[in-house]
Amino acid sequence: MSAKGGVGKSVISSLMALSLPRATLIDLDVHAMAIPKLFGLEGRLHEVTSKGIEPFRVKNVAIVSLSGIVRDRFVVLPGGNVASTMESIIAFSDIDTDYVVFDLPPGLGDEVLVLERVTDFVPVVVTTPSRVSRKVVDYLLKYLEERGKKAKVLVNMAYMECDGKTVKPFGDYEGFGLPLDPDLENYVGRIQDYEGPVRAKVGEFLSALF
Ligand SMILES: Nc1ncnc2c1ncn2[C@@H]1O[C@H](COP(=O)(O)OP(=O)(O)O)[C@@H](O)[C@H]1O
Ligand SMILES: [Mg+2]
Repeated sequence: MSAKGGVGKSVISSLMALSLPRATLIDLDVHAMAIPKLFGLEGRLHEVTSKGIEPFRVKNVAIVSLSGIVRDRFVVLPGGNVASTMESIIAFSDIDTDYVVFDLPPGLGDEVLVLERVTDFVPVVVTTPSRVSRKVVDYLLKYLEERGKKAKVLVNMAYMECDGKTVKPFGDYEGFGLPLDPDLENYVGRIQDYEGPVRAKVGEFLSALF
């Protein structure tokens, strides 16, 4: 999760799910629906059985997205419909894995309340090292803390390797840093094949988490 958009929540949640032994990845960003775009599942429809929504299976990851219900058309969900749609996706999905990764929309309101209602989650908050992003994300961290949750902070695009040197485009940062990898863009649509430095760092982060 993050209070900010465009910081890498969808990429990181995808790489997290791919780094776990078996995981269900639930796309709760019901307006953006980025997960099917990252995995090349656009236009695919979920099967529905007596057990509920059958996830798409990609390698070790079971994926559920509203995109698989509306065939990747955009949806307009006024007011409280967003929260109830998010809740329904979780409630009706056939989850058969020990780990569930939720990719959230940006924000610090309903998104968190929905998760609180249905699960005892571990919050992983994503930011970039940009001071604006960090300041906005600090609201979310405070909010989570008031609700009794200690979040882990991932600072995405914190540094990059140039000619053997580590460059920090935004300067120093606080939290677990992930590199900026220009090659990642080539894996949009087949993120499951990405084995680069961001994936390695996400794996390292998960090992420390569990
Ligand atoms: N570490 C990274 N290195 C290079 N590109 C990245 C990295 N993290 C994210 N991106 C790119 O930034 C864009 C936004 O990422 P996304 O995961 O969709 O953000 P969010 O879900 O927070 O809106 C995407 O084009 C993605 O490929
Ligand atoms: Mg996203």
